[in-house]
Amino acid sequence: MGSQGIRGPAYRLVYGNTKEILSLRNQIWISPMGLSHDILPRILPHICSWTKQYGMNFLTWYGSRAQLVITQPELIKEILSNSDGTYPKVQAPGFLRKILGDGLVTAGGYDPSDGCKCGDYVKKMETQRGQGDRGLFRILVLWLSCQLKVYERSGIRDSIIKMMKTREEKALKGESEGYGNDYFGLLLKAYHDPDMTKRISLDVLIDECKTFYIAGHETTTKLLTWTILLLATHTDWQEKLREEVLELFGQKNPAPDGIGKLKTMSMVINESLRLYPPAVNISRNVEREVRLGKYILPANMELVIPILAIHHDPQIWGEDVDLFKPERFADGVAKASNNTPAAFLPFSSGPRICVGLNFAATEAKIALSMILQRYRFNLSPSYVHSPVLVVTLRPQHGLQVIFQPLSVNQRN
Ligand code: HEM
Repeated sequence: MGSQGIRGPAYRLVYGNTKEILSLRNQIWISPMGLSHDILPRILPHICSWTKQYGMNFLTWYGSRAQLVITQPELIKEILSNSDGTYPKVQAPGFLRKILGDGLVTAGGYDPSDGCKCGDYVKKMETQRGQGDRGLFRILVLWLSCQLKVYERSGIRDSIIKMMKTREEKALKGESEGYGNDYFGLLLKAYHDPDMTKRISLDVLIDECKTFYIAGHETTTKLLTWTILLLATHTDWQEKLREEVLELFGQKNPAPDGIGKLKTMSMVINESLRLYPPAVNISRNVEREVRLGKYILPANMELVIPILAIHHDPQIWGEDVDLFKPERFADGVAKASNNTPAAFLPFSSGPRICVGLNFAATEAKIALSMILQRYRFNLSPSYVHSPVLVVTLRPQHGLQVIFQPLSVNQRN
Protein backbone atom coordinates (compact mmCIF):
# COMPACT_ATOMS: atom_id res chain seq x y z
CA MET A 1 0.00 0.00 0.00
CA GLY A 2 2.94 2.25 0.81
CA SER A 3 4.18 2.03 -2.79
CA GLN A 4 0.72 3.27 -3.92
CA GLY A 5 1.00 6.34 -1.72
CA ILE A 6 -1.15 5.02 1.15
CA ARG A 7 0.32 5.87 4.54
CA GLY A 8 -0.76 5.39 8.13
CA PRO A 9 0.38 4.89 11.76
CA ALA A 10 3.06 2.24 12.32
CA TYR A 11 2.03 -1.38 12.94
CA ARG A 12 2.66 -2.61 16.50
CA LEU A 13 3.04 -6.29 17.31
CA VAL A 14 -0.21 -8.05 18.30
CA TYR A 15 -2.18 -4.87 19.05
CA GLY A 16 -1.75 -3.09 15.73
CA ASN A 17 -3.11 0.42 16.39
CA THR A 18 -5.92 -0.59 18.76
CA LYS A 19 -4.07 0.53 21.91
CA GLU A 20 -3.46 4.00 20.46
CA ILE A 21 -7.08 4.29 19.32
CA LEU A 22 -8.48 3.22 22.70
CA SER A 23 -6.15 5.46 24.69
CA LEU A 24 -7.06 8.47 22.47
CA ARG A 25 -10.78 7.73 23.05
CA ASN A 26 -10.43 7.06 26.78
CA GLN A 27 -8.64 10.36 27.32
CA ILE A 28 -11.47 12.23 25.65
CA TRP A 29 -14.50 10.28 26.92
CA ILE A 30 -13.75 10.85 30.61
CA SER A 31 -14.93 14.46 30.34
CA PRO A 32 -18.06 15.97 28.77
CA MET A 33 -17.89 18.59 26.00
CA GLY A 34 -19.62 21.95 25.58
CA LEU A 35 -22.89 21.97 23.71
CA SER A 36 -21.26 21.88 20.29
CA HIS A 37 -21.95 19.55 17.36
CA ASP A 38 -18.25 19.30 16.53
CA ILE A 39 -18.22 15.70 17.74
CA LEU A 40 -15.82 14.07 15.28
CA PRO A 41 -12.66 14.71 17.38
CA ARG A 42 -14.49 13.14 20.34
CA ILE A 43 -16.07 10.09 18.72
CA LEU A 44 -13.43 9.16 16.18
CA PRO A 45 -10.32 11.05 17.41
CA HIS A 46 -7.94 8.75 15.55
CA ILE A 47 -9.71 9.28 12.21
CA CYS A 48 -9.79 13.01 12.82
CA SER A 49 -6.08 13.25 13.47
CA TRP A 50 -4.88 10.59 11.02
CA THR A 51 -6.76 12.05 8.02
CA LYS A 52 -4.95 15.32 8.74
CA GLN A 53 -1.62 13.53 9.06
CA TYR A 54 -1.87 10.83 6.36
CA GLY A 55 -4.54 11.98 3.88
CA MET A 56 -8.14 11.09 3.00
CA ASN A 57 -7.45 7.37 2.75
CA PHE A 58 -5.03 5.71 5.17
CA LEU A 59 -4.06 2.32 6.54
CA THR A 60 -4.53 1.24 10.19
CA TRP A 61 -4.19 -2.09 11.97
CA TYR A 62 -6.95 -3.78 13.98
CA GLY A 63 -4.66 -6.23 15.71
CA SER A 64 -2.96 -8.01 12.84
CA ARG A 65 -5.71 -7.13 10.36
CA ALA A 66 -5.10 -4.30 7.87
CA GLN A 67 -7.92 -1.76 7.67
CA LEU A 68 -8.07 0.85 4.93
CA VAL A 69 -10.01 3.88 6.13
CA ILE A 70 -11.69 5.60 3.17
CA THR A 71 -13.20 9.08 3.32
CA GLN A 72 -13.18 9.96 -0.39
CA PRO A 73 -16.84 10.00 -1.58
CA GLU A 74 -16.10 8.69 -5.12
CA LEU A 75 -14.35 5.62 -3.71
CA ILE A 76 -17.11 5.09 -1.11
CA LYS A 77 -19.71 5.16 -3.88
CA GLU A 78 -17.75 2.60 -5.87
CA ILE A 79 -17.52 0.23 -2.88
CA LEU A 80 -21.15 0.54 -1.73
CA SER A 81 -22.68 0.33 -5.21
CA ASN A 82 -20.78 -2.86 -6.03
CA SER A 83 -23.11 -5.80 -6.52
CA ASP A 84 -20.79 -8.59 -7.70
CA GLY A 85 -19.69 -9.67 -4.22
CA THR A 86 -16.25 -8.03 -4.32
CA TYR A 87 -16.91 -6.20 -1.03
CA PRO A 88 -18.93 -8.49 1.27
CA LYS A 89 -19.99 -7.40 4.75
CA VAL A 90 -17.60 -7.96 7.62
CA GLN A 91 -18.80 -10.47 10.22
CA ALA A 92 -20.08 -8.59 13.26
CA PRO A 93 -18.09 -8.89 16.50
CA GLY A 94 -19.01 -11.88 18.69
CA PHE A 95 -21.04 -9.89 21.26
CA LEU A 96 -23.20 -8.34 18.53
CA ARG A 97 -23.78 -11.69 16.88
CA LYS A 98 -24.93 -13.03 20.25
CA ILE A 99 -27.58 -10.32 20.45
CA LEU A 100 -28.51 -10.18 16.78
CA GLY A 101 -27.95 -13.75 15.77
CA ASP A 102 -27.07 -14.26 12.10
CA GLY A 103 -29.83 -12.22 10.49
CA LEU A 104 -29.68 -9.79 7.56
CA VAL A 105 -27.61 -7.03 9.22
CA THR A 106 -24.83 -9.32 10.10
CA ALA A 107 -25.85 -10.97 7.19
CA GLY A 108 -33.86 -8.23 9.91
CA GLY A 109 -40.26 -8.93 10.72
CA TYR A 110 -40.90 -6.28 12.84
CA ASP A 111 -44.05 -6.73 14.85
CA PRO A 112 -44.29 -3.50 16.79
CA SER A 113 -46.96 -4.90 19.10
CA ASP A 114 -44.38 -5.92 21.70
CA GLY A 115 -42.35 -2.74 21.46
CA CYS A 116 -42.69 0.82 22.61
CA LYS A 117 -45.48 2.31 20.52
CA CYS A 118 -45.53 6.08 20.09
CA GLY A 119 -49.06 6.26 21.44
CA ASP A 120 -48.15 4.29 24.59
CA TYR A 121 -45.10 6.42 25.11
CA VAL A 122 -46.94 9.71 24.84
CA LYS A 123 -49.64 8.28 27.13
CA LYS A 124 -47.00 7.43 29.74
CA MET A 125 -45.77 11.02 29.58
CA GLU A 126 -49.30 12.28 30.06
CA THR A 127 -49.76 10.01 33.10
CA GLN A 128 -46.61 11.40 34.70
CA ARG A 129 -47.89 14.91 34.16
CA GLY A 130 -51.15 13.88 35.82
CA GLN A 131 -49.11 12.80 38.84
CA GLY A 132 -48.09 16.41 39.50
CA ASP A 133 -44.58 16.11 38.10
CA ARG A 134 -44.66 19.80 37.00
CA GLY A 135 -43.79 18.76 33.50
CA LEU A 136 -40.25 17.61 34.26
CA PHE A 137 -39.87 14.13 32.88
CA ARG A 138 -36.73 12.21 32.77
CA ILE A 139 -37.08 11.03 29.23
CA LEU A 140 -34.19 8.64 29.56
CA VAL A 141 -35.87 6.58 32.27
CA LEU A 142 -38.84 5.88 30.00
CA TRP A 143 -36.70 5.24 27.01
CA LEU A 144 -34.49 2.92 28.97
CA SER A 145 -37.41 0.97 30.36
CA CYS A 146 -38.64 0.45 26.77
CA GLN A 147 -35.18 -0.62 25.69
CA LEU A 148 -34.77 -3.05 28.55
CA LYS A 149 -38.04 -4.68 27.56
CA VAL A 150 -36.74 -5.11 24.07
CA TYR A 151 -33.37 -6.35 25.18
CA GLU A 152 -34.54 -9.09 27.51
CA ARG A 153 -32.97 -11.57 25.26
CA SER A 154 -34.41 -14.82 26.49
CA GLY A 155 -37.73 -12.95 26.38
CA ILE A 156 -37.24 -12.18 22.71
CA ARG A 157 -36.94 -15.85 21.74
CA ASP A 158 -39.94 -16.78 23.86
CA SER A 159 -42.11 -13.98 22.51
CA ILE A 160 -41.22 -14.82 18.91
CA ILE A 161 -42.20 -18.44 19.54
CA LYS A 162 -45.46 -17.23 21.16
CA MET A 163 -46.20 -15.07 18.12
CA MET A 164 -45.46 -18.02 15.84
CA LYS A 165 -47.89 -20.26 17.75
CA THR A 166 -50.66 -17.64 17.60
CA ARG A 167 -50.26 -17.26 13.84
CA GLU A 168 -49.99 -21.00 13.26
CA GLU A 169 -53.18 -21.62 15.25
CA LYS A 170 -55.05 -18.91 13.33
CA ALA A 171 -53.87 -20.37 10.03
CA LEU A 172 -54.87 -23.91 11.12
CA LYS A 173 -58.36 -22.76 12.20
CA GLY A 174 -58.68 -20.92 8.88
CA GLU A 175 -59.11 -17.57 10.68
CA SER A 176 -56.44 -15.95 8.50
CA GLU A 177 -55.14 -16.33 4.99
CA GLY A 178 -51.92 -18.30 5.38
CA TYR A 179 -49.57 -17.03 8.05
CA GLY A 180 -50.14 -13.35 7.24
CA ASN A 181 -48.76 -11.19 4.41
CA ASP A 182 -46.21 -9.22 6.44
CA TYR A 183 -42.54 -10.08 6.81
CA PHE A 184 -43.17 -12.33 9.82
CA GLY A 185 -45.78 -14.19 7.79
CA LEU A 186 -43.27 -14.72 4.96
CA LEU A 187 -40.69 -16.07 7.40
CA LEU A 188 -43.30 -18.48 8.83
CA LYS A 189 -44.21 -19.60 5.34
CA ALA A 190 -40.55 -20.34 4.65
CA TYR A 191 -40.29 -22.20 7.99
CA HIS A 192 -43.21 -24.47 6.91
CA ASP A 193 -42.13 -24.77 3.25
CA PRO A 194 -43.08 -28.27 2.03
CA ASP A 195 -39.88 -28.30 -0.01
CA MET A 196 -37.25 -29.20 2.62
CA THR A 197 -34.45 -27.63 0.53
CA LYS A 198 -36.17 -24.22 0.77
CA ARG A 199 -37.23 -24.52 4.41
CA ILE A 200 -35.57 -22.24 6.99
CA SER A 201 -34.76 -23.41 10.51
CA LEU A 202 -36.29 -22.05 13.72
CA ASP A 203 -32.95 -20.45 14.60
CA VAL A 204 -32.77 -18.62 11.27
CA LEU A 205 -36.35 -17.38 11.71
CA ILE A 206 -35.59 -16.13 15.23
CA ASP A 207 -32.30 -14.52 14.18
CA GLU A 208 -34.04 -12.63 11.36
CA CYS A 209 -36.67 -11.29 13.79
CA LYS A 210 -34.05 -10.29 16.36
CA THR A 211 -32.05 -8.52 13.69
CA PHE A 212 -34.99 -6.47 12.45
CA TYR A 213 -36.11 -5.65 15.94
CA ILE A 214 -32.78 -4.63 17.42
CA ALA A 215 -31.26 -3.06 14.27
CA GLY A 216 -34.40 -0.99 13.91
CA HIS A 217 -34.93 -0.09 17.57
CA GLU A 218 -31.38 0.89 18.57
CA THR A 219 -30.95 3.20 15.61
CA THR A 220 -34.39 4.84 15.45
CA THR A 221 -34.41 5.67 19.18
CA LYS A 222 -31.02 7.37 18.73
CA LEU A 223 -32.35 9.38 15.78
CA LEU A 224 -35.27 10.52 17.96
CA THR A 225 -33.01 11.30 20.93
CA TRP A 226 -30.61 13.50 18.95
CA THR A 227 -33.46 15.22 17.10
CA ILE A 228 -35.18 16.05 20.42
CA LEU A 229 -31.87 17.50 21.67
CA LEU A 230 -31.50 19.64 18.54
CA LEU A 231 -35.10 20.88 18.73
CA ALA A 232 -34.84 21.55 22.48
CA THR A 233 -31.81 23.76 21.84
CA HIS A 234 -33.08 25.35 18.58
CA THR A 235 -36.58 26.31 19.66
CA ASP A 236 -37.12 28.39 16.47
CA TRP A 237 -37.01 25.12 14.49
CA GLN A 238 -39.19 23.43 17.09
CA GLU A 239 -41.84 26.15 16.50
CA LYS A 240 -41.53 25.79 12.71
CA LEU A 241 -42.07 22.04 12.98
CA ARG A 242 -45.02 22.48 15.35
CA GLU A 243 -46.66 24.88 12.88
CA GLU A 244 -46.17 22.38 10.07
CA VAL A 245 -47.55 19.50 12.14
CA LEU A 246 -50.58 21.47 13.40
CA GLU A 247 -51.33 22.71 9.89
CA LEU A 248 -51.28 19.17 8.50
CA PHE A 249 -52.83 17.17 11.33
CA GLY A 250 -54.33 19.57 13.89
CA GLN A 251 -54.84 17.41 17.00
CA LYS A 252 -55.51 14.24 15.04
CA ASN A 253 -53.04 11.36 14.89
CA PRO A 254 -50.64 11.73 11.94
CA ALA A 255 -52.24 10.32 8.79
CA PRO A 256 -50.20 8.46 6.14
CA ASP A 257 -50.89 10.97 3.34
CA GLY A 258 -49.78 13.89 5.57
CA ILE A 259 -46.53 12.23 6.67
CA GLY A 260 -45.14 12.56 3.14
CA LYS A 261 -45.85 16.32 3.26
CA LEU A 262 -43.74 17.03 6.35
CA LYS A 263 -41.08 18.89 4.34
CA THR A 264 -39.54 20.95 7.15
CA MET A 265 -39.47 17.87 9.38
CA SER A 266 -37.62 15.91 6.68
CA MET A 267 -35.00 18.67 6.53
CA VAL A 268 -34.59 18.59 10.32
CA ILE A 269 -34.32 14.78 10.34
CA ASN A 270 -31.68 14.88 7.59
CA GLU A 271 -29.67 17.47 9.49
CA SER A 272 -29.96 15.41 12.68
CA LEU A 273 -28.79 12.27 10.82
CA ARG A 274 -25.92 14.24 9.30
CA LEU A 275 -24.65 15.65 12.61
CA TYR A 276 -25.43 12.59 14.77
CA PRO A 277 -25.62 9.50 12.53
CA PRO A 278 -26.70 6.59 14.81
CA ALA A 279 -24.49 4.23 12.77
CA VAL A 280 -21.04 5.81 12.70
CA ASN A 281 -19.06 3.34 10.56
CA ILE A 282 -19.66 0.86 7.77
CA SER A 283 -17.16 -1.96 7.19
CA ARG A 284 -16.55 -4.19 4.20
CA ASN A 285 -14.07 -6.93 3.27
CA VAL A 286 -12.08 -7.13 0.07
CA GLU A 287 -12.97 -10.60 -1.25
CA ARG A 288 -10.32 -10.71 -4.01
CA GLU A 289 -7.64 -8.44 -5.40
CA VAL A 290 -9.41 -5.50 -6.98
CA ARG A 291 -8.83 -2.04 -8.45
CA LEU A 292 -10.53 0.72 -6.45
CA GLY A 293 -10.04 4.15 -8.07
CA LYS A 294 -6.29 4.33 -8.62
CA TYR A 295 -5.46 1.74 -5.95
CA ILE A 296 -4.98 -2.02 -6.23
CA LEU A 297 -6.33 -3.58 -3.05
CA PRO A 298 -5.18 -7.04 -1.91
CA ALA A 299 -7.69 -9.73 -0.92
CA ASN A 300 -8.72 -9.96 2.76
CA MET A 301 -8.12 -6.31 3.55
CA GLU A 302 -10.89 -4.63 5.57
CA LEU A 303 -12.38 -1.32 4.40
CA VAL A 304 -13.77 1.16 6.93
CA ILE A 305 -16.13 3.96 5.83
CA PRO A 306 -16.42 6.43 8.71
CA ILE A 307 -19.87 7.95 8.05
CA LEU A 308 -19.40 10.48 10.87
CA ALA A 309 -16.15 11.83 9.40
CA ILE A 310 -17.73 12.29 5.97
CA HIS A 311 -20.78 14.01 7.50
CA HIS A 312 -18.46 16.47 9.30
CA ASP A 313 -16.17 17.30 6.36
CA PRO A 314 -16.13 21.07 5.71
CA GLN A 315 -14.95 20.49 2.12
CA ILE A 316 -18.30 18.84 1.43
CA TRP A 317 -20.74 20.67 3.73
CA GLY A 318 -19.03 24.06 4.01
CA GLU A 319 -17.40 25.95 6.85
CA ASP A 320 -20.68 25.84 8.83
CA VAL A 321 -20.39 22.03 8.87
CA ASP A 322 -20.76 21.75 12.66
CA LEU A 323 -23.79 24.03 12.91
CA PHE A 324 -27.39 22.81 13.00
CA LYS A 325 -28.76 24.33 9.80
CA PRO A 326 -31.63 22.20 8.41
CA GLU A 327 -32.15 24.81 5.68
CA ARG A 328 -29.10 23.36 3.90
CA PHE A 329 -31.39 20.43 2.88
CA ALA A 330 -34.17 22.69 1.51
CA ASP A 331 -33.25 21.89 -2.10
CA GLY A 332 -32.17 18.29 -1.59
CA VAL A 333 -29.07 16.37 -0.59
CA ALA A 334 -27.04 17.25 -3.72
CA LYS A 335 -27.35 21.00 -3.07
CA ALA A 336 -26.57 20.56 0.64
CA SER A 337 -23.42 18.53 -0.09
CA ASN A 338 -21.81 20.65 -2.77
CA ASN A 339 -22.95 18.14 -5.41
CA THR A 340 -21.59 15.14 -3.51
CA PRO A 341 -24.80 13.25 -2.63
CA ALA A 342 -22.73 10.09 -2.01
CA ALA A 343 -21.43 11.89 1.09
CA PHE A 344 -24.79 11.62 2.90
CA LEU A 345 -24.78 8.09 4.21
CA PRO A 346 -26.85 7.69 7.39
CA PHE A 347 -28.49 4.57 5.93
CA SER A 348 -25.54 3.54 3.75
CA SER A 349 -26.26 3.27 0.00
CA GLY A 350 -26.28 0.78 -2.87
CA PRO A 351 -27.63 -2.77 -2.82
CA ARG A 352 -27.11 -3.21 0.96
CA ILE A 353 -28.77 0.12 1.89
CA CYS A 354 -30.77 -0.05 5.14
CA VAL A 355 -33.98 -1.96 4.44
CA GLY A 356 -35.68 -0.10 7.31
CA LEU A 357 -35.00 3.39 5.90
CA ASN A 358 -38.59 4.32 5.08
CA PHE A 359 -39.93 2.55 8.15
CA ALA A 360 -37.50 4.46 10.41
CA ALA A 361 -38.22 7.84 8.77
CA THR A 362 -41.99 7.29 9.06
CA GLU A 363 -41.77 6.07 12.67
CA ALA A 364 -39.61 9.09 13.63
CA LYS A 365 -42.02 11.50 11.91
CA ILE A 366 -45.04 10.01 13.70
CA ALA A 367 -43.33 10.13 17.11
CA LEU A 368 -42.06 13.70 16.63
CA SER A 369 -45.45 14.90 15.33
CA MET A 370 -47.26 13.42 18.35
CA ILE A 371 -44.83 15.01 20.80
CA LEU A 372 -44.94 18.40 19.03
CA GLN A 373 -48.75 18.35 19.04
CA ARG A 374 -48.78 18.05 22.83
CA TYR A 375 -45.61 19.59 24.28
CA ARG A 376 -43.17 22.47 24.05
CA PHE A 377 -39.78 21.29 25.26
CA ASN A 378 -36.47 22.74 26.43
CA LEU A 379 -33.20 21.27 27.53
CA SER A 380 -33.02 20.54 31.27
CA PRO A 381 -30.12 22.24 33.14
CA SER A 382 -29.09 18.74 34.25
CA TYR A 383 -28.21 17.67 30.68
CA VAL A 384 -24.51 17.04 30.12
CA HIS A 385 -23.41 16.87 26.48
CA SER A 386 -21.31 13.74 26.24
CA PRO A 387 -21.88 11.81 23.01
CA VAL A 388 -20.25 8.36 23.05
CA LEU A 389 -20.07 5.43 20.68
CA VAL A 390 -21.46 2.23 22.20
CA VAL A 391 -22.58 0.22 19.16
CA THR A 392 -24.57 3.33 18.16
CA LEU A 393 -23.92 7.03 18.80
CA ARG A 394 -25.65 7.90 22.08
CA PRO A 395 -25.67 10.49 24.90
CA GLN A 396 -23.56 8.96 27.67
CA HIS A 397 -25.77 10.26 30.51
CA GLY A 398 -29.06 10.21 28.63
CA LEU A 399 -31.08 13.19 27.48
CA GLN A 400 -32.92 15.24 30.09
CA VAL A 401 -35.61 17.50 28.66
CA ILE A 402 -38.28 19.68 30.28
CA PHE A 403 -41.68 19.18 28.66
CA GLN A 404 -44.41 21.79 29.04
CA PRO A 405 -47.88 20.63 28.07
CA LEU A 406 -49.52 22.88 25.49
CA SER A 407 -52.83 24.40 26.48
CA VAL A 408 -55.80 23.64 24.21
CA ASN A 409 -55.63 27.01 22.37
CA GLN A 410 -51.87 26.69 21.85
CA ARG A 411 -52.56 23.38 20.16
CA ASN A 412 -54.50 24.91 17.27
C1 HEM B 1 -32.55 5.88 12.01
C2 HEM B 1 -32.69 4.59 11.89
C3 HEM B 1 -31.71 3.69 11.16
C4 HEM B 1 -30.42 3.91 10.76
C5 HEM B 1 -29.57 5.17 10.95
C6 HEM B 1 -29.97 2.71 10.08
C7 HEM B 1 -28.71 2.57 9.50
C8 HEM B 1 -28.33 1.47 8.78
C9 HEM B 1 -27.08 1.35 8.09
C10 HEM B 1 -25.96 2.40 8.03
C11 HEM B 1 -27.05 0.13 7.49
C12 HEM B 1 -25.92 -0.46 6.64
C13 HEM B 1 -25.01 -1.27 7.51
C14 HEM B 1 -23.87 -1.86 6.71
O1 HEM B 1 -23.90 -1.86 5.51
O2 HEM B 1 -22.94 -2.32 7.35
C15 HEM B 1 -28.29 -0.53 7.81
C16 HEM B 1 -28.64 -1.80 7.40
C17 HEM B 1 -29.76 -2.46 7.82
N1 HEM B 1 -30.83 -1.94 8.57
FE1 HEM B 1 -30.95 -0.06 9.25
N2 HEM B 1 -30.99 1.78 10.10
C18 HEM B 1 -32.07 2.33 10.74
C19 HEM B 1 -33.30 1.75 10.95
C20 HEM B 1 -33.62 0.45 10.63
C21 HEM B 1 -34.91 -0.19 10.87
C22 HEM B 1 -36.14 0.52 11.49
C23 HEM B 1 -34.80 -1.48 10.47
C24 HEM B 1 -35.81 -2.61 10.49
C25 HEM B 1 -37.11 -2.45 10.65
C26 HEM B 1 -33.44 -1.66 9.95
C27 HEM B 1 -32.95 -2.85 9.45
C28 HEM B 1 -31.75 -2.94 8.78
C29 HEM B 1 -31.30 -4.16 8.12
C30 HEM B 1 -32.04 -5.50 8.10
C31 HEM B 1 -30.06 -3.86 7.52
C32 HEM B 1 -29.18 -4.79 6.70
C33 HEM B 1 -29.53 -4.63 5.22
C34 HEM B 1 -28.64 -5.46 4.34
O3 HEM B 1 -27.50 -5.70 4.71
O4 HEM B 1 -29.05 -5.83 3.23
N3 HEM B 1 -32.76 -0.47 10.06
N4 HEM B 1 -29.07 0.30 8.58
